Amino acid sequence: MKNLVAIILAAGQGTRMYSGLPKVLHNVAGQPMLDHVLEAVEALEPDKIYVVTGFLGEMVKEHVGKRAICVHQKRRLGTAHAVKQVVPYLKDFKGDVLITVGDAPLIRPATLQELVKRRRAHQVAATVLTTELDNPTGYGRIVRNRDGTVRKIVEEKDTNVYEAAIKEINTGIYVFDCQRLLDALDRVRNNNAQREYYLTDTVEILGKLGYEVEAMVAEDPTETLGVNSRADLARAENLLRRRIAMSVMEHGVTVIDPATTYIDKQVQIGKDTIIHPFTMITGKVDIGEECVIGPHVHIADSKVGAGSHLQFCYVQQAELGSNVTIGPYALVRPGSKIADNTRIGTFVEVTRSKIGEGCDILHLSYIGDAVIGNGVSLGTGTVTVNFDGKNKRRTVIGDNVFLGSNTQLIAPVEVESGVSFAHNAVLSGKVRAGEDPLPNAKKKEKRAKPQRKK
Ligand code: UD1
Ligand code: CA
Repeated sequence: MKNLVAIILAAGQGTRMYSGLPKVLHNVAGQPMLDHVLEAVEALEPDKIYVVTGFLGEMVKEHVGKRAICVHQKRRLGTAHAVKQVVPYLKDFKGDVLITVGDAPLIRPATLQELVKRRRAHQVAATVLTTELDNPTGYGRIVRNRDGTVRKIVEEKDTNVYEAAIKEINTGIYVFDCQRLLDALDRVRNNNAQREYYLTDTVEILGKLGYEVEAMVAEDPTETLGVNSRADLARAENLLRRRIAMSVMEHGVTVIDPATTYIDKQVQIGKDTIIHPFTMITGKVDIGEECVIGPHVHIADSKVGAGSHLQFCYVQQAELGSNVTIGPYALVRPGSKIADNTRIGTFVEVTRSKIGEGCDILHLSYIGDAVIGNGVSLGTGTVTVNFDGKNKRRTVIGDNVFLGSNTQLIAPVEVESGVSFAHNAVLSGKVRAGEDPLPNAKKKEKRAKPQRKK
């Protein structure tokens, strides 16, 4: 939208969070509240976005990076004082100023857009986003004039009994005509219960100056939830997760039980994938079509190819090809890349390893710092001995290698393509086809490579 700037208020410490972290950096559905608000605001493509920082301002500024201009509020004297920090940038600006609190992470871009459109269409000095709550505790109350315009906003601590009973509340999100906002800000005083300069006072001030302020009631009250405590944070988390689950389902994914499924905002899931209960998909995750995920799976910051089956496992910062099977009870750690049609089975851990196509590592194995070719089968209890107490060393295995149960790969070790041993082999250095293994190993008797079930 043209002729629009946005201000996000994010200076508060969030006293009621009892935290060392600035409130707006607390995560909801896998990303800081501030990121959710920024995303919603960015969707409107305003000319400029300002973030007012205060408590641990440097940390917030670093987090914001190039996404917005950070303006520091040295002393936190209230929301009007916070907005005042941006005034030097707005002196000659003639358009709309969208102001939103940084602790309302559920706000939708469409609602913000509608709010700007309303103010423009009705040519009022400001439009306040409000909502009706059965329990308005903690929010500023909206006092309307007879004609429906907004007379004033009364902060909870300043309400009388009649005002306290009002169910229509201020969401902390507004659009102002910039010059009217500047007029009003200059007149805000701090003669209230909290000795703060309230942005909400601008509404009554504008009225007294002869301007109109309107309210736009948000249809979905969950969108405007303000997070002031850890309990609010859990509530926001719950609401946002439901929203994400709904959207995932609308895109053709089956979520058996949204109540026990935790999907972060940056997750992509292909259609006809089924997510079973007690599953967490966190961070940046890309899952292909027709996968079966869960029960009891945690996938973090990973890629999962189409048709893969994962159950009872933890996969972090890994890349899985298509038709890969993981678990039950497997751990795939960062830096692992597992190619198509490979099966990682029960009590297997894979870390910093590249495993080729069509491999079977099905029981009780540890694979660390390895590069494994295609069609490799590693028997029960095969482990890479990759750490000599000082250094991690590499294991390289060629294509179509068959190693029986209880093989130890003493790294550095390189097993040539086509090598096969029955069981208990201890392999080190260069291992060539047709060579004897170390003394305590037996040669594998000839037998057909096991057929894989489809
Ligand atoms: C504010 C509104 C209230 C509304 C509610 C909606 C005021 C006076 N009250 O109350 O009417 O119902 O939001 O959630 O505006 N902040 C600063 N600098 C400051 C003070 C606050 O940047 O000096 C920021 C905070 O970081 C926060 C936002 O402004 O993101 C709101 O501040 P908060 O203290 O949470 O206000 P509420 O009491 O929730
Ligand atoms: Ca708040």
